[in-house]
Amino acid sequence: MPVTDGELSALLGDVAAAAAALTSPMVGEQAERICGRLLASVVRPLRQATGAAAAGALPGGAGAGRAAGRGNGRAAAEDSAADLGERLWELAKAATRLRARFPEVPELAEATAALQDLAVGLADEASAAARVAELAQLQKCLAQGIQVMTDGPYLVTNAVRVTDWLGCELPVRPQLALCRCGASKIRPLCDGAHAAIGFTGGKDPARVPDRRDVYGGQQVTIFDNRGLCQHSGLCTARLGTVFRQGSEPFVAPSGGRMDEIIRAVRDCPSGALGYGTDGVEARDGADWHGSRAPAIEVTRNGPYRVTGGIPLTGGDGQPEHRNTGASGEHYALCRCGHSQNKPFCSGMHWYVDFKDPVPDPDREPTMFEWAGGLPALTRMTRLFYEKYVPADPLLAPLFAGMSPDHPQRVAKWLGEVFGGPKCYSSEYGGYPRMVSQHLGKQLTEDKRARWVTLLLAAARDAGLPNDPEFRSAFGSYIEWGSRLAVENSQAGATPPEHMPMPRWDWRTAAGPPGSRLSALTPPGPDQHEEPELPAAGETLGFEKHIKPLFRRRDRQSMSFAFDLWSHADVSQHAAAILDRLRAGTMPCDGAWPAEKTDIFAQWIDAGKPA
Ligand code: HEM
Ligand code: SF4
Ligand code: FES
Repeated sequence: MPVTDGELSALLGDVAAAAAALTSPMVGEQAERICGRLLASVVRPLRQATGAAAAGALPGGAGAGRAAGRGNGRAAAEDSAADLGERLWELAKAATRLRARFPEVPELAEATAALQDLAVGLADEASAAARVAELAQLQKCLAQGIQVMTDGPYLVTNAVRVTDWLGCELPVRPQLALCRCGASKIRPLCDGAHAAIGFTGGKDPARVPDRRDVYGGQQVTIFDNRGLCQHSGLCTARLGTVFRQGSEPFVAPSGGRMDEIIRAVRDCPSGALGYGTDGVEARDGADWHGSRAPAIEVTRNGPYRVTGGIPLTGGDGQPEHRNTGASGEHYALCRCGHSQNKPFCSGMHWYVDFKDPVPDPDREPTMFEWAGGLPALTRMTRLFYEKYVPADPLLAPLFAGMSPDHPQRVAKWLGEVFGGPKCYSSEYGGYPRMVSQHLGKQLTEDKRARWVTLLLAAARDAGLPNDPEFRSAFGSYIEWGSRLAVENSQAGATPPEHMPMPRWDWRTAAGPPGSRLSALTPPGPDQHEEPELPAAGETLGFEKHIKPLFRRRDRQSMSFAFDLWSHADVSQHAAAILDRLRAGTMPCDGAWPAEKTDIFAQWIDAGKPA
């Protein structure tokens, strides 16, 4: 329904004016990009909303006059480049205020999303956060939810968490428009491509019918609606004796253990699966009892995986129709544009070979990325601690009292070690926390060896890559790290307190014997003669003054990262080393006196001479 509100027309006029001011070639490539986005994602939907769809029928809003005055000449171009960020910020706020007043106008939400993204994206880091907070405040009256815009994007309002396929957080604006047609060049955000390609959001009459099947088993009843399945393959890969690819019937409900069936059902991303005991469906159980925080994962080459019960409405603002027995807590939304069951994913992304992110053959992936990121590592640690450890008499007692989020913690540790985001350090306390958890546990070689065997089995079950390169790099870290866990857990062990997180990549090896300071090394002098400090005014040099500051044991402790006796290495990492010296976290067994740190700082100031 067209909205005839004058303010909406005024906003449209202002945006059109801003876009017109940007058309000058003086302002360059960035201006062209912004101008394109304003026209495709702001002016177009606002025109639709005001009913001014006729070409050229731009209403003369408050800003139209300004546009005419600014459109030409060097002065105007420089002027618009300088205050572009400010101007877009004012527009974003104006749009957000209107969005809050007209929540029933999806076109306004689409335009607001683009303006918010532009205004926040043009700000520096500190003001970007402040802008997001201010916009969130302006639209806090709006309910959190996802609206499927008719033939357009997903309008995500007040989302808290959007992650990529690796589990890394993506920048979120209070109003988002996520691509649903698959053609946007700024995925996962919408860039208006749906309008250009004539995307339609209707369902395919040939889609798999909406039919719920019930399979009564010995312990568990399984419910399944093939019309909902997105063909993630998680159930068949994880529990192939229950969820049987290529067999009829698809489900054999007594083919697996109850806990495994429940786990597979709860993890089914499309919500096609349900379970019950004594013939009574446990919808709440399958929906994690509402315990998951709202989140959207942009999966690799596949749909948006929504969890945490984010309400879903259609273009008319009414709850989106769902198939029989569907979960409202978790569901998968098509983002390739080809689902037969739009807006839900039907697995077509695989047939149309949808690729996002587009692989770059020239870029070497980190081990974290190759493993499949946090989702894959968490799948592995959950299988390990939920399935293998409790069934093992040697390990079960050790972990009987572990914290409920232990699997997530270990996954985040591994992710950080393998080059992923520093989640373990920022959320739990990094290396000191990990070491404190092994101290005094008196782990034995038997337990260690079992731990490794079962973890590698869980890696296989969780579908981690099985190629020789990954497995050798992964296995070498697990063998190394588990031995350190044993060493650090012995009575009297004194692991260095402030070691940085280890980093392991494709080429890392633990190094030759003695590359590391053992936690079992008796404390005491390591034949290190205290260096003579330079006299005041003496010209500093690395060989003479800096290298002798580092003891053999300091060099050993850091050798996995760089060589403290190498001028090139220390020069390269000088700033980070100085930060840690000043923070007292290096050396890892006790801080330097201030005068030593000062010498290091002076050497940096002197240009790091050899
Ligand atoms: C590469 C090898 C290993 C890694 C990366 C690792 C990682 C971790 C991490 C990150 C924690 C602390 C989690 C937290 O923040 O609470 C932890 C705790 C623990 N680890 Fe390890 N670990 C390894 C080897 C082992 C081995 C071999 C054992 C025993 C055989 C073991 C037994 C434990 C136990 C019992 C805890 C405390 C659990 C609790 O009560 O919450 N770890 N480990
Ligand atoms: S969507 Fe659910 S039912 Fe379909 S393959 Fe994946 S886990 Fe199995
Ligand atoms: S993303 Fe799965 S069908 Fe489109």
